[in-house]
Amino acid sequence: MDSKKEEVRRKHIRLHMEGTLTARDKVGVQDFVLLDAHTSEAAFVDNLRKRFKENLIYTYIGTLLVSVNPYQELGIYTVSQMELYQGVNFFELPPHVYAIADNAYRMMCSELNNHFILISGESGAGKTEASKKILQYYAVTCPMTESLQIARDRLLLSNPVLEAFGNAKTLRNDNSSRFGKYMDIQFDFQGVPVGGHIISYLIEKSRVVYQNQGERNFHIFYQLLAGGEAERLAYLGLERDPQLYKYLSQGHCAKESSLNDKNEWKTVSNAFSVIDFTEADLENLFGVIASVLHLGNICFQEDEQGCATVPDTHEIKWIAKLLGVYPPVLLEALTHRKIEAKTEEVICPLTPELSAYARDAMAKAVYGRTFTWLVNKINCSLVNKDVTKKTVIGLLDIYGFEVFDKNGFEQFCINYCNEKLQQLLIERTLKAEQAEYETEGIEWEPIQYFNNKIICDLVEERHKGIISILDEECIRPGPATDVSFLEKLEDRVGRHAHFQTRKLAGPKGRKRIGWMEFQLLHYAGEVTYCTKGFLEKNNDLLYRHLKEVLCRSDNSILRECFLVAELESRRRPPTVGTQFKNSLSSLLEILISKEPSYIRCIKPNATKEPSKFDDFLIRHQIKYLGLMEHLRVRRAGFAYRRKYEHFLQRYKSLCPDTWPHWHGPPGEGVQRLVTYIGYGPEEYKLGKTKIFIRFPRTLFATEDAFEFSKHQLVARIQATYKGCLGRREYVKKRRAATKLEAHWRGVLARKEVQRRRWAVQVIRRFVKGFIHRDEPLGPDNEEFIVFVRKNYILNLRYHVPKNVLDKSWLRPPGILENASDLLRAMCLRNLVRKYCRGVTAERRALMQEKVVASEIFRGKKEGYADSLNQPFADSRIDEGDIHPKVLQLIGSEKVEYGVPVIKYDRKGFKARQRQLVLTREAAYVVDVAKVKQKIEYSELKGVSTSSLSDGLLVIHVSPEDHKRKGDAVLQCEHIFEAVTKLVMLVKKDVVSVVQGSLQFSIGPGREGTIVFHTGPEEQIYKDKNGQLRVVSVRRKS
Ligand SMILES: Nc1ncnc2c1ncn2[C@@H]1O[C@H](COP(=O)(O)OP(=O)(O)OP(=O)(O)O)[C@@H](O)[C@H]1O
Ligand SMILES: [Mg+2]
Repeated sequence: MDSKKEEVRRKHIRLHMEGTLTARDKVGVQDFVLLDAHTSEAAFVDNLRKRFKENLIYTYIGTLLVSVNPYQELGIYTVSQMELYQGVNFFELPPHVYAIADNAYRMMCSELNNHFILISGESGAGKTEASKKILQYYAVTCPMTESLQIARDRLLLSNPVLEAFGNAKTLRNDNSSRFGKYMDIQFDFQGVPVGGHIISYLIEKSRVVYQNQGERNFHIFYQLLAGGEAERLAYLGLERDPQLYKYLSQGHCAKESSLNDKNEWKTVSNAFSVIDFTEADLENLFGVIASVLHLGNICFQEDEQGCATVPDTHEIKWIAKLLGVYPPVLLEALTHRKIEAKTEEVICPLTPELSAYARDAMAKAVYGRTFTWLVNKINCSLVNKDVTKKTVIGLLDIYGFEVFDKNGFEQFCINYCNEKLQQLLIERTLKAEQAEYETEGIEWEPIQYFNNKIICDLVEERHKGIISILDEECIRPGPATDVSFLEKLEDRVGRHAHFQTRKLAGPKGRKRIGWMEFQLLHYAGEVTYCTKGFLEKNNDLLYRHLKEVLCRSDNSILRECFLVAELESRRRPPTVGTQFKNSLSSLLEILISKEPSYIRCIKPNATKEPSKFDDFLIRHQIKYLGLMEHLRVRRAGFAYRRKYEHFLQRYKSLCPDTWPHWHGPPGEGVQRLVTYIGYGPEEYKLGKTKIFIRFPRTLFATEDAFEFSKHQLVARIQATYKGCLGRREYVKKRRAATKLEAHWRGVLARKEVQRRRWAVQVIRRFVKGFIHRDEPLGPDNEEFIVFVRKNYILNLRYHVPKNVLDKSWLRPPGILENASDLLRAMCLRNLVRKYCRGVTAERRALMQEKVVASEIFRGKKEGYADSLNQPFADSRIDEGDIHPKVLQLIGSEKVEYGVPVIKYDRKGFKARQRQLVLTREAAYVVDVAKVKQKIEYSELKGVSTSSLSDGLLVIHVSPEDHKRKGDAVLQCEHIFEAVTKLVMLVKKDVVSVVQGSLQFSIGPGREGTIVFHTGPEEQIYKDKNGQLRVVSVRRKS
């Protein structure tokens, strides 16, 4: 199952490899080594063009960087770009000058050795820009301490100063460096830039006194005039208009739109302050600069003897003032020459031409030496006084190979310099390349390359080389001229394979070489030099007389530049050629001890236009930069090689055996990897420490597969990382939650403690209050008592009786008994009042009756308590049930109450059904239609009932009245009601409740007895004694 999966994966990788190969071709290759047609210049140019059109200006040849000047801002030098390249493996990212810079820096840091980056190319190809980009890269990306910031600023700001004094507008470049520059950047053991050192080479002094059409003098002159403060210019005796100065106006382009001299002046002035120039230094420096301008404006005329005179000494005075010399002495030095005869000095006048020559020589010498002084001064400010060991990265921004229509002494020197650098390249690259195959034990076919040592020898060999011959010619007594020099060359090196003159060339070459010219076959091609001016430039003669004046100058710069020792020395100073040769050989010594990196700059067109790709011009540069040769050797047999570790590191994800870690020897890992991804045996070789891949397409395929697998890896890494982040976040939250919880619990616990403490105090106070509750109100019990009161009162709310009959009452604490009683009474009163208010008139009447009943019977007669529940009726007989006759008899009296009763005869105690009818006036005992007895209330003596539960009542009437029938003995079911009604109508307390028996009047003078007692059943009967016995059942109550 697993192997099937693997097979599918492999297939996928292969498919992907083939799919993207063509896509890559469309944007060219990032490394020329990967070109299939690596020997074809057309393919080379084609790739360069493809990339240039896409604004991809950088391409590698192995570790060499080819850069094409874009002539436009591409936005590829931002800080984020710098950060992108920082510490990244060289081939991981697209080619960039930052990659070169970073690679050199990393190697320097890790191996603690010195490096240099050689930047070459023709004028305007972008060398200076590249070197500035590198410097900026270090300034931004290197670690920095605050105290060393000044060193970094000085390194950066030395550039504008040097450019102002050493750069000029030429036809080829508006900011052309007219000197070679080698700058060491020194780093401490931590990789912090701590200092620097600059060496300058062969400044083009002739520019000070002469410029071709369309070119300018060094920038500083124009900057001073355009930007210098008015007082400074006045002090220097200068006007703002550069046209007024002969040395500035010969090229007819003193004003150049692409250059902003005023702004540049500000930059330069600012830079001066950073790199430690004092006001006195600047005064002296600009004194020299101004005096050069004044010198240019000195005109010589011929007097009668043919000698030079200066009609207008105005300029002389200014120069004398600025340089601190005596004007007549200066004037004499410019127009006379000291000739040393055997024992004495003879002063002889000069012709105007020779004076002009002397003037120009003075201007050149003054400027040239001041430039050297300036470089030294900058070096003083860059020097790091700390003596600990430092490593350096050198930046060599040097003129490239130059071939013009007319080539002079300068081109000769420049091209010689390039030959020397090519030598270095051969030593360090081509030879090294071949040596690598050998040390790695790889079989390969040796590549033939041209070793230009033979040309270097032709130029520099002691006593035999062209420079030696030139020197000889310069010091030879007798009339030496450029022509005699050429003849000597023909004589001495005429047979050299790389040397040619018109005379030696024979009929074929004649057309191409002039009479005054010689041709050198440089490694980069033929160049024809015109010998005119060779001797003069090589001599660089400054008349002794002028030297003496300058030695005595008050200007400290000149005094430092022109030493008296030089005058006293009898030895001839070395010629320019020899000086240059010596400085080059010491440069090579410097370089040879360091690890090289190369940047080859190419200029895409001669018109400084963006996006214009001039094939012809570029082919020419490719040729003389030796790029094809370099590529050929780089590719000799194998397009690509990489240390096992690095190869494995990059591609290990393509093979399950090597991913994510390979623990065995890297070589074996690589073997496993390439076998897995299916390299054919012809496609690669394994060396001792490196893998060598023969075809570019193999590498592409691997690279594409890597690209493809990267996405999968990225997804996996992303997922893992996101998971990790999620987990981390979760753990963080959980921890936070736990902490919060703990704190919250703490808060709660603290609150609880407080609450309990408070509670304890309250309880304690409460207990104390309780103990002292019976004492007079005081601090010990006040709170308790208030609390008890309040609590009782509040509690009482819920226990107040709801009605009058509710006798319940909340038991008061001892101290509140009085209050409680008062409250209870109040409450009761209130309830009663409330109750009373709610009672209707009828009910009140009814209650009054009950009250009356209560007064009569309460506690006196059995059964009363039971009767309480039974409400009294208005009447027990409807008026309709009373016979109309009776009503008639009663007459106008209203029947107030009627109730059925049993009447017992007074004599025989016979029981008869009757009605007792009560009116306001009297009580009537009624037998259906007859009134049996009328008892007027006024005659009523009393009413008696027994104390037992029987319903017997006796209405006593006055016995005197014999008309009357005697007392009425009645039994009534509603005895309480009937008696009460009667009493209310009688309006007197007439009732007596008797115990045991009662007497009643049967008639006048006759009395009967009624005996009451209890028995098992109710009975009324006449006993043997003739008494009425009333037996009632005992009620419980
Ligand atoms: N990488 C670049 N990006 C944008 N413009 C560039 C770049 N390199 C060079 N240039 C443009 O090209 C001009 C010339 O470049 P530079 O001065 O570096 O040339 P050079 O090789 O030093 O020439 P010279 O030998 O004359 O000193 C610059 O002023 C700038 O306008
Ligand atoms: Mg330059």
